[in-house]
Amino acid sequence: MMMQSWWLHTLVLLLSSTSCRTTAQSIGCPYGYSYLSHTGRCYRAYDRENTYDEALATCQADNGTLAMPRDNTTNNFLVALKNAVSTNKFFYFGLDRRDGPWNYVDGGNLSYTDWAEGEPNFISEDCAEYFPGIWPHRLRNYWNNGLCSRKVGFICEFEAGAVDGGWSDWGPWSACSVTCGVGEQTRDRTCTNPAPSNDGADCDGHVQETQACDPTVPCPALDCSDLYPGLRPARNFGRYQNQCFWSSARSNLRLNYREAQRECESHGGILATIKNARVQTFIKDLLKNTTGRTKRNYWIGLDDLNRERVFQWNDGTRLGRYRKFRSNAPHKRRDCVALWRAANWRLWFPSKCKDRMPYICQMDYNVNK
Ligand SMILES: *[C@@H]1O[C@H](CO)[C@@H](O)[C@H](O)[C@H]1NC(C)=O
Ligand SMILES: *[C@@H]1O[C@H](CO)[C@@H](O)[C@H](O)[C@H]1NC(C)=O
Ligand SMILES: *[C@@H]1O[C@H](CO)[C@@H](O)[C@H](O)[C@H]1NC(C)=O
Ligand SMILES: *[C@@H]1O[C@H](CO)[C@@H](O)[C@H](O)[C@H]1NC(C)=O
Repeated sequence: MMMQSWWLHTLVLLLSSTSCRTTAQSIGCPYGYSYLSHTGRCYRAYDRENTYDEALATCQADNGTLAMPRDNTTNNFLVALKNAVSTNKFFYFGLDRRDGPWNYVDGGNLSYTDWAEGEPNFISEDCAEYFPGIWPHRLRNYWNNGLCSRKVGFICEFEAGAVDGGWSDWGPWSACSVTCGVGEQTRDRTCTNPAPSNDGADCDGHVQETQACDPTVPCPALDCSDLYPGLRPARNFGRYQNQCFWSSARSNLRLNYREAQRECESHGGILATIKNARVQTFIKDLLKNTTGRTKRNYWIGLDDLNRERVFQWNDGTRLGRYRKFRSNAPHKRRDCVALWRAANWRLWFPSKCKDRMPYICQMDYNVNK
């Protein structure tokens, strides 16, 4: 039940204004024209039949010109537009070769073509038009060159006024960022309905929204051995507060101090630091529980390798008040410290760093790892 009510109480972290705008069809376009955001222009297919020059005059009376399909997207849009008006008519668009080469009516060069196979053909047919939508497949909707004096349908275009951007619908929510516990998910929208053009304003608000999500699966409690799968056997792990400790098994290769340090480091840890009696007791119990009968010395992370008699823990801190050296411990050329088996691991024993023995690593218990 807790989970359920929590789920209903979803947090929309980023609220955004979803301003409603008129549909793309009418924005900045004169009556009867349709807007194409790709070009920022408005287009209209006229059912009325004109010669090429009459058609151009009709478009100019609308303050526009004949439509110029300069790429596939625009061409597809014009084909759909004229077929919505009539599928059995030819439609002029703004391309002719009355001055020699094929040029758009605004003087631009031909950059894209969609001629039907075999077109353009007859030399006297100088004006481009679309084949009707119901003609055979190999011709329908493709470009044809026709006589400019023929009266057919035509398509005009008009530069739209400023078009302010409008938001698309929100996309679907993404998968939850976690498979257990509490995570978050996002959804996006784009400023494409329509995209702003001709100096129109950008969309107002956020493109992304985030909410908390709850896969309703509680996360399993993690053990130290789950966090550090590289260290085995798993039963040699123990956790004290937010620290994981692991002792190498008796059967493990015994290492000298430097090797043991490197081994712990390779698993993201250090040799164990023992800064108070509680940790000391914990480690003693851990060793009792996990080693067999045979007692050995274990490396911990303490040495005076930098300066004789100035001991330092492997986490970089100086040895504090808590110190458990066995009495009369020999120090000379014994710069590295081990837990002493003869005192049931309650005391520390300075040893030669090159001695080989098992060791105790210490790692953070960090469940977000
Ligand atoms: C064309 O522009 C003129 C001058 O700006 C305007 O008076 C006229 O109404 C416009 N015609 C159309 C069809 O928009
Ligand atoms: C142009 O559009 C048509 C119709 O959508 C499509 O079949 C064709 O692959 C497109 N051609 C190119 C070059 O994009
Ligand atoms: C159009 O083509 C002509 C002839 O190839 C060329 O001289 C001219 O620079 C071109 N114009 C544009 C705008 O590309
Ligand atoms: C040692 O084993 C005892 C009994 O199973 C357990 O209660 C204790 O928590 C263990 N201590 C450590 C440090 O693993």
